[in-house]
Amino acid sequence: MEHESWAPPEVDVERANVARIYDALLGGSHNFAVDRDVASALTAIEPSSREAARANRQFLGRAVRFLVKSGIRQFLDIGSGVPTLGNVHEIAQSAAPDARVVYVDTDPVAIAHSKSILAGNDQATIVQADLREPDVILSHPDVNRLIDFDRPVGLLLVAVLHFITEEEHPGDLVRRLADALPPGSHLVISHATLDGRAPQVNEAIEKLYSRTSAPGRPRDHASVKAFFDGFEILEPGLVYLPQWRPEEGDLKFERPEQAWGYAGVGLKT
Ligand SMILES: C[S@@+](CC[C@H](N)C(=O)[O-])C[C@H]1O[C@@H](n2cnc3c(N)ncnc32)[C@H](O)[C@@H]1O
Repeated sequence: MEHESWAPPEVDVERANVARIYDALLGGSHNFAVDRDVASALTAIEPSSREAARANRQFLGRAVRFLVKSGIRQFLDIGSGVPTLGNVHEIAQSAAPDARVVYVDTDPVAIAHSKSILAGNDQATIVQADLREPDVILSHPDVNRLIDFDRPVGLLLVAVLHFITEEEHPGDLVRRLADALPPGSHLVISHATLDGRAPQVNEAIEKLYSRTSAPGRPRDHASVKAFFDGFEILEPGLVYLPQWRPEEGDLKFERPEQAWGYAGVGLKT
């Protein structure tokens, strides 16, 4: 199997990896044949998969711009992914040059590529850590160097919570992170859902992801909404990705559920 020169040596090129599958869906170049195979299989099951990935990325951009307009100047982006078009620090720092961003991910490709694009940027960094260990994230020296937990924070959990199983208690993990944030902080979540899909489609997607680095756990509307416990969900509520404050030029879907994800932003009061 290929092992491209840009890939860190510890990368497993034999097993499809969720960060690289997403990069492949977005048309990026940091992925391998195993990842592209899963991306193609996903598109065969659900033809709107590539558009869904782009809709998620567009939501992320809109949410970050909204947070900057709301006065947020520090972002903790967990499950930040392989850098691609419209990275959080680029969007935030172009609107507010003093904005600080800490990316967190487990994936070595995401880490290596983020480090290379962040070289020379003192106001943004990447930390290799796991959402399942919130205390490690909250006490990490790089997180505390850039994020002042006495001032409002934008906590981004975008397209990552569906990689946490029920047994890993995703709600408790979100609560632990949310408890560290002062009032005025914002929580941004997008989450895969199979609401509105035929059971055969759900089964095929779950089976496909069971062979990847992080089997997916799509959730229904009520379960995703529960992650905002303690936050006021801002207008327009928890909606399908393309319905969250759409902007000119965003992808259009015949039916919003074709983007197969929910999106919302909450304010800690
Ligand atoms: C679908 S990508 C989303 C990237 C970015 N947030 C976005 O929405 O464009 C999911 C990312 O979450 C990361 N991830 C999965 N499980 C994780 C965990 N337990 N802790 C930290 N990151 C995780 C993956 O490595 C991947 O980079």
